[in-house]
Amino acid sequence: MRIVLGVSGGIAAYKAVEVCRRLVDAGHQVTPVLTDAARRFVGEATFSALASDPVPEGLWQRWEGGIAHTRLGQRADLVVIAPATADVLARYAAGMADDLLSATLLVTRAPVVVCPAMHTEMWEHPAVAENLATLRRRGVHVVPPESGKLAGGDEGAGRMAEPATIVATALALSARRHDLAGTHVVVSAGGTREAIDPVRVITNRSSGKQGHAIAEAAAARGARVTLVTSSALEPPAGVEVVHVESAADMHAAIAAAAPGADVVVMAAAVADFRPKAPVAQKLHGLPELVLEPTPDILAGLAEARRPGQVLVGFAAETQDVVDRARRKLERKGVDLVVVNDVSAPGVGFDHDTNEVTILGADGSVVVVPLTSKRQVADVILDQVVARLRSGATDARDARDSKRDTKED
Ligand code: C5P
Repeated sequence: MRIVLGVSGGIAAYKAVEVCRRLVDAGHQVTPVLTDAARRFVGEATFSALASDPVPEGLWQRWEGGIAHTRLGQRADLVVIAPATADVLARYAAGMADDLLSATLLVTRAPVVVCPAMHTEMWEHPAVAENLATLRRRGVHVVPPESGKLAGGDEGAGRMAEPATIVATALALSARRHDLAGTHVVVSAGGTREAIDPVRVITNRSSGKQGHAIAEAAAARGARVTLVTSSALEPPAGVEVVHVESAADMHAAIAAAAPGADVVVMAAAVADFRPKAPVAQKLHGLPELVLEPTPDILAGLAEARRPGQVLVGFAAETQDVVDRARRKLERKGVDLVVVNDVSAPGVGFDHDTNEVTILGADGSVVVVPLTSKRQVADVILDQVVARLRSGATDARDARDSKRDTKED
């Protein structure tokens, strides 16, 4: 794999030497790109001696038959920035391209991992937090800093993560890159709206952000994605979108998309009940609502599923969170249930972050501490990929026997 290792000007630049060595030892072709400030901390010769390629001089240099500022980013399979100073994060978030590192970041379509390192005051500044949120939203992966000794004898949060952590995260990320290639993933998202009359609806607080993040992550990992959504959010690029409003619409859209799908992730907050008889004209006065249950789409999928298909449900709970989710997993007959405690701060509805526990029908329990919904999406998909792999033989057999029957 071709890796661009961006090094910016912080004391943690000395740890980037170790990151470089570990990536090279793991068999990758590493090109270090140093900012001017980084050169004040660590000599170019150190990186040139360790890396696979010499350190490019800058924006105006020719590189592999092209120009460095585009060639490096175009050819990279992965970009790691360690350390990423507050300044580099700001310039990346703003889309600037006035040195080789920032230009490479703008050009590349490869996954990017940033490893922030700075003083605590800077780390806690809202400008840094906002820039990181922007980058996360665009799919950039962040290896958060730790607490410890900083430059100038200070101590606190902002110390760059250890090289072993950075390298493990970066390599796991790139392993995800094409692991859903050739699969069809159907994702539902958003809260449904159930008509009372032409004006009023019954709905819930779901924003659709987690479902959209799953669709985006699945597409980035090579899947063909159908996103069935009731959310007003801009859908991610490169996915087929079916807009729906009610549980009945969602039921129909999922019924159409799911039979051939390898994976169905029901992240939508489908209404459990709806008005039994919505009226055609606006109601006046205080109506007496008679409700009826909606069809359980997910349970229906589980009953009709073909071998090898992976089904994922969601559970938003406020108490006995894991116990209730475990019962839901069994009741619905799915492979995975992703549960969040929506009463916790920063978790669930409408937040950009989430904290979940992923329960497997095989008894597995994966806890994902508070992080971006995009990163939660990738951990969920890691679990899906593991199940696709273990069920792959079953699925192939089933498909082959179907094909045989058709040919008969
Ligand atoms: O039973 P509960 O609504 O808590 O289950 C949540 C899970 O079931 C979610 O994955 C949701 O998308 C799905 N669901 C469904 N059809 C319904 C209600 C929920 O597929 N009518």
